[in-house]
Amino acid sequence: MSTISFARGVPAPECLPVEELADCARVALERDGRTILSYGPSPGYAPLREWIAERQGVDPARVFLTNGSLQGFVFLAQRLAPGRRVLVELPTYDRPLKILRELGADVDLVACDDEGLDPDALEQALRDGPAPAFLYLIPTFQNPSGRTLSVERRRRIVELAQEHDLLVLEDDPYGLVRYEGEALPSLFELSGGHVAYSSSFSKTIAPGLRVGWFVFPEALAREVEASATATYITPVLLGQATVDEFVRRGSFEPNLERVKRLLGARRDAMLAAVDRDLPGVTTTRPSGGYFLWLELGGVDAADLLTRAEAAGVTFVKGTDFGGAFDTARLAFSFVSPDEIRDGVARLAAALPVTA
Ligand SMILES: Cc1ncc(COP(=O)(O)O)c(C=O)c1O
Repeated sequence: MSTISFARGVPAPECLPVEELADCARVALERDGRTILSYGPSPGYAPLREWIAERQGVDPARVFLTNGSLQGFVFLAQRLAPGRRVLVELPTYDRPLKILRELGADVDLVACDDEGLDPDALEQALRDGPAPAFLYLIPTFQNPSGRTLSVERRRRIVELAQEHDLLVLEDDPYGLVRYEGEALPSLFELSGGHVAYSSSFSKTIAPGLRVGWFVFPEALAREVEASATATYITPVLLGQATVDEFVRRGSFEPNLERVKRLLGARRDAMLAAVDRDLPGVTTTRPSGGYFLWLELGGVDAADLLTRAEAAGVTFVKGTDFGGAFDTARLAFSFVSPDEIRDGVARLAAALPVTA
């Protein structure tokens, strides 16, 4: 019996537009190979920076491309976080949490509910301690919870940031991967461009390209540029030029629609299976992204994980994201709808009978 993974927050292999990307890479190299195959500017491939700048309504000089957005997060955190207080959501994406702790930041997890980060809890945190270096926030289809911050709260958080001169990093890799409903305005838009914004082509095209991007306030852009130059001189231009060809030939939107159809069916399959097989468990019901967040009603997720792995299914326990002992993250992005049904049935069998 092979293990079914609800742990992997990566797209299913059939989401990846392999043949078209092969053609895009070839065309990009033939057209602009002498630029792409040499060292270039540390903020990345100029034509792609221009395409992103136009979509975001900013000067291309503010757009910064990195080898995946996580690399940009590391640059930012290395500059700002050591020895400082940093605010994050409770729960939050595990990798930034680890990076911040390893850099010696004092990480404060701020309470969230079904509408996302609680602005009153944020205000309290801002009043209670030393001024934070920044607030790291994933407002849309959050990793790990799948939650989306309401518009009212987005406005309130932007106001609080202005009042307290707080830098906000809005991480938004999942916003475009929406299965139903209307997109909400980003904090970046609501703030008139004052927050730092990051996104990525990992969820909309392919993570292996390693193309992430940021729109920074100007002073921060210069700091991050210094880190990028010192670390790798130039990011991987071939991946960026391949993305550039992909978007310019008009493949971005149709591919995104295809990915949303594939992943929306998986989201539906997982919600239906959880509703059917896990009656004592509460789940979030995200309209996009990759994840469900389970509250297990007092069942220890670490014990459940041990039993689940023996039964042939795996997930990530909520404590890895700073969450409570009886919470868990299930990713529906990687596995097929059939595997989702089987995996949730295995999970149900691993739950204690009393739950
Ligand atoms: C919230 C969030 N930010 C950033 C990343 C990393 O993206 P990238 O592949 O661009 O480094 C992920 C990947 O899972 C993520 O969930």
